[in-house]
Amino acid sequence: MNKIEFRRGRRCLRLRFYPEGILRVSYHDKQNIQTDAVLLEPIQPQALERKEGKLEEEIRWQDLRIVVNKKELTLKIYDSFGLVQDDQEIRTGAKPGHSRMRKWEAGVYGLGEKYHWLNLMHHTMENWNTDALARVPQHCTALTAMHTAINFYLGVSKERCVGWYYDNPTHTRFSFDHGRGEMAAGEGEMRFSADGGFLDYYLMAKRSPQEVLTAYGRLTGTSPLWPRKFLGLQQSRYSYRTQEELLAVAKRFRKEEIPCDVLYLDIHYMDEYRVFSIDQKAFPKFVETLQEVHKLGFTVIVIIDPGVKLEKDGHVSLPGARPEYFIQDPKTDKPYVGVVWPEESLFPDFLQKRVRDWWGNLHKAFVEAGIRGIWNDMNEIADFSTKSKTVPTRVTHRDDEGRLVTQKDMHNQYAHYEAKATQAGMRALLKNQRPFVLSRAASAGTQRLAAVWTGDNSSTWEHMEMSIPMFLNLGMSGFSMVGSDVGGYAGDPSAEMMVRWMQLGAFTPLFRNHASIGTRHQEPWCFGDEAQAAMKKAVEMRYRLRSYLYSALWQSHQEGIPIMRPLYFLDQTDLRLYDVNDQFLFGDHLMVCPILRPGQRQRMVIFPKGEWVEFTTGKRYTESVAIVEVAFDQIPVFVRAGAVIPLDMLSQFDPEGEIDELELIYFEGTKNLKTKLYFDDGQSFAFESGSYRESWIHVEDGILREEILQDQYSAPVMKSMKKR
Ligand code: GLC
Repeated sequence: MNKIEFRRGRRCLRLRFYPEGILRVSYHDKQNIQTDAVLLEPIQPQALERKEGKLEEEIRWQDLRIVVNKKELTLKIYDSFGLVQDDQEIRTGAKPGHSRMRKWEAGVYGLGEKYHWLNLMHHTMENWNTDALARVPQHCTALTAMHTAINFYLGVSKERCVGWYYDNPTHTRFSFDHGRGEMAAGEGEMRFSADGGFLDYYLMAKRSPQEVLTAYGRLTGTSPLWPRKFLGLQQSRYSYRTQEELLAVAKRFRKEEIPCDVLYLDIHYMDEYRVFSIDQKAFPKFVETLQEVHKLGFTVIVIIDPGVKLEKDGHVSLPGARPEYFIQDPKTDKPYVGVVWPEESLFPDFLQKRVRDWWGNLHKAFVEAGIRGIWNDMNEIADFSTKSKTVPTRVTHRDDEGRLVTQKDMHNQYAHYEAKATQAGMRALLKNQRPFVLSRAASAGTQRLAAVWTGDNSSTWEHMEMSIPMFLNLGMSGFSMVGSDVGGYAGDPSAEMMVRWMQLGAFTPLFRNHASIGTRHQEPWCFGDEAQAAMKKAVEMRYRLRSYLYSALWQSHQEGIPIMRPLYFLDQTDLRLYDVNDQFLFGDHLMVCPILRPGQRQRMVIFPKGEWVEFTTGKRYTESVAIVEVAFDQIPVFVRAGAVIPLDMLSQFDPEGEIDELELIYFEGTKNLKTKLYFDDGQSFAFESGSYRESWIHVEDGILREEILQDQYSAPVMKSMKKR
């Protein structure tokens, strides 16, 4: 017995029990799972108790008490603190829905990428993957759907945290005690609704957000351990148009001694935007140019869009392509023709495994040229030919059994299956080297396949500011490797804005400077000497924190905990922290407080309880709020007193392989805080068979102590420990 079933007329409720104390509640009796998100299988619950009543049945499992109303098939769920979920209404049928009364949550977080403040309470959001800038002149809060569709959120209060993951592939809506508008009938309702599919959700009732995210990470997967090199600065532009330009950018970084690891080729490297082709006029020596760029210590990422050019003669130029490999238009009984950069285009049907295999293998020439990183863009799917700016809902896909699947059920999952094709293809071609995949669109589970960035933002102070809660909510949705276009994509940043954005970018997991065609150049040397020096300083700080950052990425990979975290991670009982949008935690011990307004030379800092030390000045803070002075070339970063922070030796790029030496800084304090140190070769899969070194370090009575957890890789020499 691994499920409990209740039936009432044609309605069916199934309760299933999963590892990590996860309860699955489904209002259907189909065997199949609706999306590709969930990795776990149900288990036989141990020590389950059932108490049958006339109208109700009570089930006890672990900390949960589930009371089923046998007539309405609604639930009341309790944990050891009391009522967690109080169902108001269950809708099955064509438009499934679930509403429960808000009883205890002070904050609501998650739902992937939302242009919104951190706490989503009192708002309504929707999930329908959207090429945002194609719909509005600038990202804004009116846009409730953006590039990703992650139907996962967490409620947080002083004593508990609960996560709900709604496994539904269609257009979905969430309303959190909105109390107004078409979604919410009354005050205090927490609602989910969908345009199709089934009502099927997973509930994770725990104490802390850390525990919920770990459970969700087991359920849907965690971030890959990305190659360490990709944690360096990434420099992009739409586009570096010729091989000379690409090489010049690489050389200039080295000349100016600004560390950088990754350069991007946007769509102009292709021959008339034909995917997997090279423009021979602009890049006549593509392979040789890449070799030169690699010799300078860079790796190059190429963009791969899903739109495949339909040639004048009605064919596509990709080897091995067949009409049935593309999504179909029932109007014509032929592949659907949309419009993207190559003009008329067909879109691969990544739902089919044979298509994913075929597509994955098309990356072969790139891999042979030394490429390890792929950038998947426009995968909502963006389609310029329609009013909705995406392919029409009538188009169809096929699953591996040959069944038709409508776009309504595939839209939000398209990018996920594309990422699956890219990951698998690159992994097979690279053999023992780890690939890097960046995607614009995503759904639940894509965090185990790709990093994401927040699409086409603008060079405005507001967009820089809003990127912080966006990253934090992505992190609360399982996505750790996130970033936005530093400096802004559309429009022209001022020197001051560029400096402040680079300082913030230095503390975001994905650190990529990118700008649109027709905008001013945003490379760090384009804003004058003073700005350049300030940017160099910020980038150098990032490079010195590389081992710290890589260890935080390991934590994301192992435990599902994001690198960037909201402040309340340190103290759930402090309700002030639930709405802090302009400060964040970076790994276990750092708190970053960027400057987000022009002309600002001081800012307010809110401190979670405990003692904090400013990273560069060593100034100590024990108050709960303070005003700090901030110079033009400085970003306030605070360290928890009692922590040891490892600093790498400064280098211009990640040399890959072993780290020789580390410097340690001990920020004295009464607590002995532990710091995780993780090392491996930074590039291969050898860590999967144990070739890594993992330890905890801390200082006790003035002496550095190390507790080794795994010792299968060489440790760097830990140089003198400085005190601050
Ligand atoms: C999309 C991407 C952007 C890219 C452009 C051209 O707008 O979001 O990053 O530069 O397409 O490929």
